Amino acid sequence: MMTEVVRVDRDRPNPDDIARAAECLRRGGLVAFPTETVYGLGVHALDRDAVRKLFDAKRRPANDPLIVHVAEFGQIAPLVTALPEHAASLAARFWPGPLTLILPRASSVPLEVTAGLQTVAIRIPAHPVARALLAAAAVPVAAPSANLFSRPSPTRASHVVEDLDGRIDMIIDGGTTDVGVESTVLDLTVSPPQMLRPGAITLEALCDVLASVGVASARSANTSRSPGLLARHYSPRVPMTLYQGPTDAARAALVTAARKAIAGGSRVGVVATSGDARLLDQIPVVIADLGPDDDAKGAAVRLYAALRELDTANVDVILAREAPYNDGLWHALRDRLRRAAANIVAAD
Ligand code: TXA
Ligand code: MG
Repeated sequence: MMTEVVRVDRDRPNPDDIARAAECLRRGGLVAFPTETVYGLGVHALDRDAVRKLFDAKRRPANDPLIVHVAEFGQIAPLVTALPEHAASLAARFWPGPLTLILPRASSVPLEVTAGLQTVAIRIPAHPVARALLAAAAVPVAAPSANLFSRPSPTRASHVVEDLDGRIDMIIDGGTTDVGVESTVLDLTVSPPQMLRPGAITLEALCDVLASVGVASARSANTSRSPGLLARHYSPRVPMTLYQGPTDAARAALVTAARKAIAGGSRVGVVATSGDARLLDQIPVVIADLGPDDDAKGAAVRLYAALRELDTANVDVILAREAPYNDGLWHALRDRLRRAAANIVAAD
């Protein structure tokens, strides 16, 4: 299959390009497109054959459910059996945006989409290209992140090309995504609602609307409720070791490990904030810079590109330090780094 890459203006995508991509989706094709979080791989959500094709293209296990994307709140009613308490107020506050709600599935949604679950994940994205495409397609679009299974999510069209060239019909290139990590996933079918995946809609923001929110932790995620939340995920191919603990201790442990690995003849890559990078400037490591130490937004935008960069930098190991914070967007960063890590070392 030839994959066509179409460049569009992020804010004013050419309507002809969007119409062509929308037609491709309506006919059961696979189209990658930018959302504000990461690139998604879209498919007509009510077309079972197309959905099966998508699982093949990504090499994604069939037990990992997809998020259904729509343009308007009004398109949700036929996809669910009920709107739980709080759904409307969360939608009014956070949609369009990086929030996914788990709702009770209507039978119109194929079980292929939900991996057999009686619930369905729904999101209205905010990115202008995604909005234009969903409006033109006028069908619900199931879209996982547009990477091969277990690889870091794509934040640039070039990442999609890397993973899926020749396996999908079309890639709409709208530049780098805004947030850089996937949407917050909130399960509204349990009480209290449970956050299954942290993202840019933070726990603090959800608590503004909800009296109480449960949190599924990265390593103990209930994999039968959300099979996609496997502990190891989003990973570079090269094994990554994550250093936890107080800043000074974790930094020291990382620097020591880097020196030791180099002495042993290994090539070392480090995912580092600028502060950490300065401590490493006398050591021959390959650094993927996440930016200023206290800039969670910048680090989120850079994270997956950094992991992919080191994957192709011909290193034998990747080292990273856990962010010293866990509030706001740091929560999502911690979660993704933990999932990407093959080993976690606690320094103290
Ligand atoms: O930001 C995002 O959410 C991106 C963009 C493209 O929208 N999409 C994305 O999709 O990250 P994906 O497939 O990579 O991740 C979807 C997550 C998985 O962890 C999956 O297990 C969970 O959502 N999920 C989907 N349906 C679910 C359901 N019915 N119940 C619980 N979890 C569900
Ligand atoms: Mg994914």
